[in-house]
Amino acid sequence: MRERFVVEGLSGARTLKGEIAVRGAKNAVLKILPASVLFEDEVPLENVPDIEDVKRMRELLEALKEDNTVLRKDIAEKFRASIVLAGPVLARYGKVEFPFPGGCVLGERSIDLFLNGFKAMGAAVEEEDGFFRITASGGKLRGAHITFPLVSVTGTETLMMAAVLAEGETVLQNAAMEPEVGYLAQYLNDCGAHIEGAGTPTVRIMGGGLLHAAGRPFVVPADRIEAGSFVILAALAGSDVHITHCNPSWLEVPIALLRQAGVSIETTPTSIRVQSSSTPYKMVSVRTHEYPGFPTDLQAPMAVFMSQCQGEGSILETIFDGRFRYVDDLVVMGADMAVMNPHRVFIRGPKEFTRKNLESPDLRGGLAYLLAATVAKGTSSIDNAYLIDRGYEHIEERLRALGLNIQREESK
Ligand code: EPU
Repeated sequence: MRERFVVEGLSGARTLKGEIAVRGAKNAVLKILPASVLFEDEVPLENVPDIEDVKRMRELLEALKEDNTVLRKDIAEKFRASIVLAGPVLARYGKVEFPFPGGCVLGERSIDLFLNGFKAMGAAVEEEDGFFRITASGGKLRGAHITFPLVSVTGTETLMMAAVLAEGETVLQNAAMEPEVGYLAQYLNDCGAHIEGAGTPTVRIMGGGLLHAAGRPFVVPADRIEAGSFVILAALAGSDVHITHCNPSWLEVPIALLRQAGVSIETTPTSIRVQSSSTPYKMVSVRTHEYPGFPTDLQAPMAVFMSQCQGEGSILETIFDGRFRYVDDLVVMGADMAVMNPHRVFIRGPKEFTRKNLESPDLRGGLAYLLAATVAKGTSSIDNAYLIDRGYEHIEERLRALGLNIQREESK
């Protein structure tokens, strides 16, 4: 059943108030589920968010029970993170078959870094009709020195996990430094892996045997992108919003930029309080960057914020080349934005938004539409709620608790 969100806009008023707790990170739980293949026993999980991508990953793991080495096409094609499972499966069983992974359309999202990494570890790669068959020579991966030509989060995590069961040492250079990478490695180490330097550009992994959780739970860390999304929402439409169960130290750049714009933000080690007045914000400019830079996943929500700031600014998107699909709809709502090229958008503000019937273009674009609908005058709808549900748990119930009039309905 197709669903949509219906949001009664606040016409620019900043009235939302109260507490909102951040859930476990999508991009952490989507890695620990595949990591479970590296274990001899069960991996207990805590703080798992109730989101669609987690359901897909569970289905994919469930389907793997029928055939240890084939990732089911119809499920794997639904989300990009499906490819992460290829690493642990290949490392444990010596082979894996999977389709080209689906997911948010953010421009070209190739998988060459994964395939080249598997090859460097001694595997043969065959492709037939969009289906990849990877076979480790002698049934076991070998450690390798791998330098990534560009920083990839899932690429780093996948090869790091594959290396845990490979023979000898693997060194990953130009690795992703996202907090989720270090957090995952720490847990794997607690369970018997030998990983050094995860969270820095150089990760060393000494291969060994299967891991043992021995009842030790993996507690999914707070979703920094969800926390950042709520900070932006609070800046746009809140009077006093307390965002709890999060880690502000993972959001230093977005918080610094929002403060520069004039948003009043106070942090404790586990919470963020945003208080606003009716003073207009000053325009800022954003350049997305790998962690610890400004996260690309907050780029679309930040564009909505910037449309409400005074002055001229720009966003330079350096990670993806197709992440401005939300711009046209925001312009129809009243934004003054111009896409200069696939990596740069100019924004002038402040602009009042009026209602529109929208359709989520992707997960973070969908969240940006929720923000736009919240600041707009009139009642907007956002179709294709599924795309927002992929990464935000029951968003309407949680935003309603802050005073937003938002409903979930069957699409017309
Ligand atoms: N890339 C290649 N070849 C590859 C892999 C990546 O060219 O084999 C390119 C991509 O096309 C992109 C760049 O490398 O231009 C960086 O992409 P990366 O691999 O880091 O992205 P990802 O690992 O697929 C993860 C998150 C994304 C997040 C990015 C960047 C997961 C499951 N997904 O994706 O999250 O945007 O890192 O931080 O961890 C989201 O949550 O909405 C989301 C898209």
